[in-house]
Amino acid sequence: MFSGELARRPLDRALLGAFAELVRSQAAAAGAPAAVADLGCGPGHITAHLHDLGVEAFGVDLSPQMIALARRDRPGLRFEVGNMQGLALAGGALGGIVAWYSIIHTPPERVPALFAEFARLLAPGGQLLLGFQAADPGVGVPQWHPHLVTPSHRWPPEAIIALLGRAGFVASARLLRDPDATERLPSAVLLAHRPAPTAVPT
Ligand SMILES: C[S@@+](CC[C@H](N)C(=O)[O-])C[C@H]1O[C@@H](n2cnc3c(N)ncnc32)[C@H](O)[C@@H]1O
Repeated sequence: MFSGELARRPLDRALLGAFAELVRSQAAAAGAPAAVADLGCGPGHITAHLHDLGVEAFGVDLSPQMIALARRDRPGLRFEVGNMQGLALAGGALGGIVAWYSIIHTPPERVPALFAEFARLLAPGGQLLLGFQAADPGVGVPQWHPHLVTPSHRWPPEAIIALLGRAGFVASARLLRDPDATERLPSAVLLAHRPAPTAVPT
């Protein structure tokens, strides 16, 4: 269902493009490639888009069936079954994380721990891009939503930004996008980063 949707979503492509550019320039400054994890990658179309934008992206999903589909359709790319709430990766292993409509399935009370895990995985300066369905205006708390496949929550962008701040992230851009002809709900895309330590002059 989701595989072709980026082609008709220029605003989403714009934010993914900015994310990729930031990751690439950081990797160039460090003189080393930066790995990017697409967490909750589903069929892998965002992973493939990031790869086309020149970043070393790989996909992770809880569902072995999704990973089988992603491997079948994009045989040149790396996809692994895993739970983004606790990945077997060293701290600071990643230069970027994308979680595209996947945090919606994490029970709200576990989202703070999820963001703490994202902060652990990212190297200082690492970039985080989140896409999710936004809550209705004026709703300040996660809003339960009867998703097609499994229950999910729509989030007020400000509530996500507050939780990211508590996990040590700094939000740098936010997009609130109205539904297009194929959607019923507004979407939010948030760009944040894990600050790099600044040198203190002696
Ligand atoms: C709505 S789909 C979005 C898929 C893809 N990111 C996209 O935009 O097309 C949500 C995906 O997140 C995955 N997911 C949910 N919770 C997860 C978790 N804790 N760890 C890894 N994947 C998860 C689901 O299996 C599902 O494939």
